[in-house]
Amino acid sequence: MDVRSMSAPELAEVIALNRSEPSDELRRLAAEARERYYGRKIYIRGLIEFTNICKNNCLYCGIRCGNSAVNRYRLTDGEILGCVDKGAELGFNTFVLQGGEDACFDDDKLCGIVYAIKEKYPECAVTLSVGERSYESYKALRSAGADRYLLRHETADKEHYSRLHPSEMSFENRIKCLYELKELGYQVGAGFMVGSPYQTEECLVKDLMFLKQLEPDMVGIGPFIPQSQTPFADKPAGAAGLTLTMLALVRLMLPYVLLPATTALGTISSDARIAAFEAGANVVMPNLSPPQHRADYALYNNKLCTGSEAAENLRELNEQAARAGYEIDMSRGDAAERKM
Ligand code: 5AD
Repeated sequence: MDVRSMSAPELAEVIALNRSEPSDELRRLAAEARERYYGRKIYIRGLIEFTNICKNNCLYCGIRCGNSAVNRYRLTDGEILGCVDKGAELGFNTFVLQGGEDACFDDDKLCGIVYAIKEKYPECAVTLSVGERSYESYKALRSAGADRYLLRHETADKEHYSRLHPSEMSFENRIKCLYELKELGYQVGAGFMVGSPYQTEECLVKDLMFLKQLEPDMVGIGPFIPQSQTPFADKPAGAAGLTLTMLALVRLMLPYVLLPATTALGTISSDARIAAFEAGANVVMPNLSPPQHRADYALYNNKLCTGSEAAENLRELNEQAARAGYEIDMSRGDAAERKM
């Protein structure tokens, strides 16, 4: 099964055949590809959700600006640095600063935060996940020391994109941002939800084709999960099995990629994390946000932020991984060379 050389109809057929879950063969091939590049190491990133204030009104997202039931918060610079300190004490070497598109975090402010983190922990990797910004902004943040940027494309089908987002947001701009981030030398993460409303098999094929073209360093894939205060409150959640299939296919499409076992997947299925590793995933992003704010970063219902999703419980994560024959790696975890 050579996923990289498959045409769109061939990919559609593989997805259809593995719709309920990845076949043993697909799983085996994905795990082999992961092992060729990364062995059985699982990389850990500390996730800091530093603001749930967002100007966007994405139909699926719990922190959309139209949701007046959210208890909004924004961490101070000192609180963000405090999360990094706590993570550093726990042994983390990479931090993901994620937030809504909050105008308060303009270039000056965000550059200052990135700079301060890199000054104190020069060896660590700083990842930003703060949405669509201008080329100049991405450039300034890169100069301030940001190493990586996560911006899920959400769907590679323009028509589908327009059904998930308000008319002010454009598919073209999202894609443009991803290419600009690459050009600026960031390690770039794209990604999409599985089972989002109106998604068809053709959308998933386009996601795979788009990723093949973009060649990102990271790909975040999780099931859509409805959030009760959004327009998609009554839509069904995406399935864990199909999410595992997409993880495996992305691993085979981009064998060198860093692929997280996402919190969303863990939220809909209890043994999902190990299942994700078996399907080719090799990253976990435990939550380092201040515990009193975690429940307010509710992108979807019942989002996990306790147990082994919490940075405080690294031991639990270590044991879980070790039992399944994986080894937690706390280093920066840069993407592998693309040869082999
Ligand atoms: N279900 C699953 N994932 C979601 N995200 C946002 N809302 C939801 C939801 N309801 C994902 C988006 C976004 C990432 C931060 O969280 O893909 O890019």
